Amino acid sequence: MSGAGINWDNLGFDYIKTDLRFLSVWRDGAWQEGTLTEDNVLHIAEGSTAIHYGQQCFEGLKAYRCKDGSINLFRPDQNAARMQRSCSRLLMPHVPTEMFIEACKQVVRANEKFIPPYGTGGALYLRPFVIGVGDNIGVRTAPEFIFSVFAVPVGAYFKGGLKPHNFSISTYDRAAPQGTGAAKVGGNYAASLLPGADAKQHNFADCIYLDPLTHSKIEEVGSANFFAITEHNEFVTPKSPSVLPGITRLSLMELAESRLGLKVVEGDVFVDQLDQFKEAGACGTAAVISPIGGIQYNDKLHVFHSLESVGPVTVKLYNELTGIQFGDVEAPAGWIVKA
Ligand SMILES: Cc1ncc(COP(=O)(O)O)c(C=O)c1O
Repeated sequence: MSGAGINWDNLGFDYIKTDLRFLSVWRDGAWQEGTLTEDNVLHIAEGSTAIHYGQQCFEGLKAYRCKDGSINLFRPDQNAARMQRSCSRLLMPHVPTEMFIEACKQVVRANEKFIPPYGTGGALYLRPFVIGVGDNIGVRTAPEFIFSVFAVPVGAYFKGGLKPHNFSISTYDRAAPQGTGAAKVGGNYAASLLPGADAKQHNFADCIYLDPLTHSKIEEVGSANFFAITEHNEFVTPKSPSVLPGITRLSLMELAESRLGLKVVEGDVFVDQLDQFKEAGACGTAAVISPIGGIQYNDKLHVFHSLESVGPVTVKLYNELTGIQFGDVEAPAGWIVKA
């Protein structure tokens, strides 16, 4: 069960070539059956819409090694459904849920030696994507598409336990009010590269975007959703058509209510009313839960629980979520699919 020469303790979030990836082509109105291939380089037409017009979308989910040696996929049906919504938004054909999950399972099993062992906190990150390809030049949908899934072993986001990080409010927008913010499409991430690099240069973990219409409400982080806990034990998370509907966010909303007895509020989070929150965090597949120590806005650092220690509700949410993912805590029905 050990991957070729990988030091599990030093895994970050970096590309490592694994053995096999799934690939299928959509041609003449249908997806081909698809195969596993060793080749990690795509050969695509120079006129591909993915290259010129950003006609592409992607997903991110993880496979977890459990104590008993089995392998858990966490809510892959939700990733399949979100990719279908992204494809609809960009006029691309849907990958059926069954095909999506089967491709993920095949890639996990074919790269089993790359799954970090139970107890290391690492996981096998899966990156499904759909791209528009084929000969084309005008701004229109592509004649052909590729669906692929590859895998990369990734380490625990927080080595040595949960630690709070500081974030800054960006003056840039990542999405437009009725744009593509809710779809997981590359254009949103291209727009976030400069603001994210700016934030990191100033020693922040990342930046937080405000709503693109009024710039008064928190939307999300460049690659994670925002949540906060009020004095009255409410779990609050922004509701907006330009926020990516994260599966970690959805899961935390469900766990906050059913297991922690919190009231869940999806609504406006005004950036000048952060005093009501005693804890805050960023959540996503890669970040898991990243506790937010403080948020820098207009030259002032607003501190939530503490800059050094993590709030008790955040810790409970983290333990519940990761316990379910690694198979140590009973999962709500349908959340875990064995690979
Ligand atoms: C912009 C953005 N928001 C939120 C998330 C969190 O989504 P999920 O929990 O499905 O990973 C991600 C990560 O995928 C993201 O890229």
